Amino acid sequence: MKTLEDTAVPVTAEIHPDAVLLVEDLRVTFARSGPPVHAVNGISYQLRAGQMLAIIGESGSGKSVSVRALMGLLPPSARITGSARLVGTELVGLDERSMRQIRGRDIAMVFQDPARSLNPTMSVGAQIVEAIRTHRREVRKAAAADRAVELLKLVRLPAAERRFHEYPHQLSGGMRQRVMIAIALASNPKVLIADEATTALDVTTQAQIMELLVDLQQRLGTAVVIISHDLGLAASYADEVLVMYAGRIVEQAETAALFRNVRMPYTKALLGAIPQLSTPSHSLLAVIGGQPPDLSALPPGCAFEPRCPRADEQCTVRPELTEHEPRHRYACWHPHLDADRATPPEGAVTEGEGQS
Ligand SMILES: Nc1ncnc2c1ncn2[C@@H]1O[C@H](COP(=O)(O)OP(=O)(O)O)[C@@H](O)[C@H]1O
Ligand SMILES: [Mg+2]
Repeated sequence: MKTLEDTAVPVTAEIHPDAVLLVEDLRVTFARSGPPVHAVNGISYQLRAGQMLAIIGESGSGKSVSVRALMGLLPPSARITGSARLVGTELVGLDERSMRQIRGRDIAMVFQDPARSLNPTMSVGAQIVEAIRTHRREVRKAAAADRAVELLKLVRLPAAERRFHEYPHQLSGGMRQRVMIAIALASNPKVLIADEATTALDVTTQAQIMELLVDLQQRLGTAVVIISHDLGLAASYADEVLVMYAGRIVEQAETAALFRNVRMPYTKALLGAIPQLSTPSHSLLAVIGGQPPDLSALPPGCAFEPRCPRADEQCTVRPELTEHEPRHRYACWHPHLDADRATPPEGAVTEGEGQS
């Protein structure tokens, strides 16, 4: 079995005592008739209990694939290497039967589209009861129903007792997402992953769901990973931000530190792409000029080089992700240094008021 010492990528200087998830040099390649697609190319991070980590990046940067790999939710064409240990259990290469036990119980996921994830023919209460009993058969139906109502209250669904009997189509998008979170929490997972879970919601509901996730993370000690293309959203809620490009982490720091000192031009470009309330969230990334790289023909150098305003000859050699400053890593030959500091987005966590 692979140990930390064996991996070539020095990631996190030390393993945090509260680490619940330890990802080391995770790689995902999709086989197909043409050249393989390199969707995730060696990412490493750790997630602590009670921490909220944001994985940010343009569409196609490998965010979803990187977390689906942890949960055994990729098609058979995916080849996964590296390591991902969930409180000691290696998830990479785990057989489907063991994975089924862990999925939903220790690590749970909420997706962008709750309408599609929920069963339209079952009341929301019945679906939560089913989620509770999937992993704990011994729980009686009546007890599970009580617990389901409790969970609906926990996710602050108004009139929980009444809503318990309603069907998904009777709920708003925000309410359905609360139900999905209740289902995800049914077995009190150690890690909750929200993949673009608020993207389809209006701005007000988006904020309410994010606040709910922060509240749950703090009250239950659940480690939360939020995946979003929206850096501003991460800035407002997450403790730590991990910026992905072409399947690699290109910048990683505690949120407050990152917004004091955005170093990587790609992160800077993402910041510039923060949506105004008036622009539809889907159009915002058009602000970064050029095309995302072809993942089946990645350049040997920095993958952002063709689109980067600061690129030069040196960038044809790939810069390693390096801890250039305390707990602030970035992979860039020409970072933005203090002279051209970023303006934090509205609502960004600033020094002194950061969440712990
Ligand atoms: N089943 C698959 N087969 C081949 N390529 C895939 C598959 N799933 C995802 N990809 C590719 O992996 C890349 C990363 O996808 P994804 O992780 O979904 O991006 P993100 O979540 O950051 O928008 C994309 O280029 C996508 O086309
Ligand atoms: Mg995605």
